[in-house]
Amino acid sequence: MSSWPCSWPLVLLLVMWWMVVRESNGASTNVKVGSISKVEDAVNFHIYYGQTFKVIKNTIDGKSYLLIQNTSRMAVRTKYCTSRIKSYVIPLINYSVDTQSSPGGVPVSFFELLGLLGTLKGITSEAVASPCLLKLFEAGEVVKLEKGEQQEQLLSQFAAHFISDTDQPQTCNFANFFPLSEGTPLQRAEWIKFLGAFTNLETKANQVYDVVKASYTCLSQMAANKTKSFKPIVAWIEYDKNGGVWCFTKEAHKLKFVEDAGGENIDKSINKVSYNVSDPDDLEALHAILCTVDAVIDETLSSDPQNYTQTTFLENINVDDNSCFSFISNQSIWRYDKRVRNGTILDWYDGAISQPNLVLADIVEALFPTGNYTTSYFRNIAKGEGVININPDMCARDASLPLDPTIPACG
Ligand SMILES: *[C@@H]1O[C@H](CO)[C@@H](O)[C@H](O)[C@H]1NC(C)=O
Ligand SMILES: *[C@@H]1O[C@H](CO)[C@@H](O)[C@H](O)[C@H]1NC(C)=O
Ligand SMILES: *[C@@H]1O[C@H](CO)[C@@H](O)[C@H](O)[C@H]1NC(C)=O
Ligand SMILES: *[C@@H]1O[C@H](CO)[C@@H](O)[C@H](O)[C@H]1NC(C)=O
Ligand SMILES: *[C@@H]1O[C@H](CO)[C@@H](O)[C@H](O)[C@H]1NC(C)=O
Ligand SMILES: *[C@@H]1O[C@H](CO)[C@@H](O)[C@H](O)[C@H]1NC(C)=O
Ligand SMILES: *[C@@H]1O[C@H](CO)[C@@H](O)[C@H](O)[C@H]1NC(C)=O
Ligand SMILES: *[C@@H]1O[C@H](CO)[C@@H](O)[C@H](O)[C@H]1NC(C)=O
Repeated sequence: MSSWPCSWPLVLLLVMWWMVVRESNGASTNVKVGSISKVEDAVNFHIYYGQTFKVIKNTIDGKSYLLIQNTSRMAVRTKYCTSRIKSYVIPLINYSVDTQSSPGGVPVSFFELLGLLGTLKGITSEAVASPCLLKLFEAGEVVKLEKGEQQEQLLSQFAAHFISDTDQPQTCNFANFFPLSEGTPLQRAEWIKFLGAFTNLETKANQVYDVVKASYTCLSQMAANKTKSFKPIVAWIEYDKNGGVWCFTKEAHKLKFVEDAGGENIDKSINKVSYNVSDPDDLEALHAILCTVDAVIDETLSSDPQNYTQTTFLENINVDDNSCFSFISNQSIWRYDKRVRNGTILDWYDGAISQPNLVLADIVEALFPTGNYTTSYFRNIAKGEGVININPDMCARDASLPLDPTIPACG
């Protein structure tokens, strides 16, 4: 397999044809393909279905994952691990997850929504935001495989090891599960279908995605109905303490959240630059822009979120006179660190990715307050709202059962 004779799609086609021929000659029991997933929104993976196998084309690593049903004869005979094909026997008998890579590792909430925590056997760090995974870890059901000489060997014993950091060295069972590669909140959430394919849980994956998408779409329409002649202007901003510099975000999914919540992002012509608070001209320009903003989302990293208050924010923007800031008089300064484990592990990088409808509901409440809705991920530091410390005791269900998606009231 050192040199590929011709174009890649043709090779894949030939391999698949050969497998079909071989299977139809064999006496293997065919798994009835009861249900399939169609990828509607995400762009970085595709799923194709055969009788006894599936193929996921993964744009992240440029590979095709051949998922072979454990009941097919091919499952014992065939093992691919080339530069373009990897094979896995499904449904996965067990698996491990890279929970260590920054910022949040692989979001395990996707596995929880499918009810897959029972077969999760290894993690690379216990720094996770999921109460049920923490509980399983405490009970010794899931082991931590620490970085070191043996890690690779230990990880290779699982039917699959899911990673989101594509730069690390990869062995044959590694699978790149990378929802964050997508540009919109719903595209990210649709990666649940990727995991559904590995576990024959297509029906469940489709159902979860449909429910999340319907909720997201309804909230977005509700927000559009609330918008008056002028939409509230929102700024996602982050302070880098070391450089002494404020930056406005350009991340597509964050800007999309604001639009879908009935808000308006600060002008594109403004948000190109970063602002150095030690430079008087920069500082004046920053203050002028902030005076046009109705709601601020302060993304500044903090090692102690509970102690990150409005006072911290005001110190960081370095103002003596707040009178021009409507987000202060109107009390609308938000952070997405409401749910936090041990000070630094934010559920924003986990649960918020698989259920973006909850994030949207939070931002709609931030822009059009009803006072009637309890936010999931966002807290308003202008109103002195604190954090919720995540702990294993918060796992209130049988960890091996699926987590039901949360559907906020809409309409
Ligand atoms: C295939 O997987 C299913 C579900 O995990 C399991 O019940 C069955 O025993 C497996 N069959 C084989 C041949 O491994
Ligand atoms: C995972 O499954 C493999 C078989 O695919 C088995 O050899 C291994 O011991 C299992 N590991 C754990 C921790 O269950
Ligand atoms: C938005 O407004 C339209 C027209 O008034 C209404 O039919 C629709 O139900 C509203 N949608 C939501 C989600 O509130
Ligand atoms: C910000 O300005 C100060 C003073 O001019 C300078 O020392 C510092 O390096 C600047 N920071 C950055 C990130 O450019
Ligand atoms: C909270 O932050 C302030 C600075 O904003 C600091 O002086 C104080 O020591 C911090 N408190 C704790 C408990 O870390
Ligand atoms: C303050 O917020 C309310 C909605 O809660 C909005 O109607 C009003 O226009 C806002 N005022 C300013 C000055 O932004
Ligand atoms: C919490 O974090 C600190 C350092 O950040 C670490 O020393 C400690 O072991 C962590 N505790 C838990 C329960 O993870
Ligand atoms: C507040 O919630 C209650 C029940 O959840 C509902 O009946 C009421 O209409 C809500 N009020 C507003 C202003 O949304």
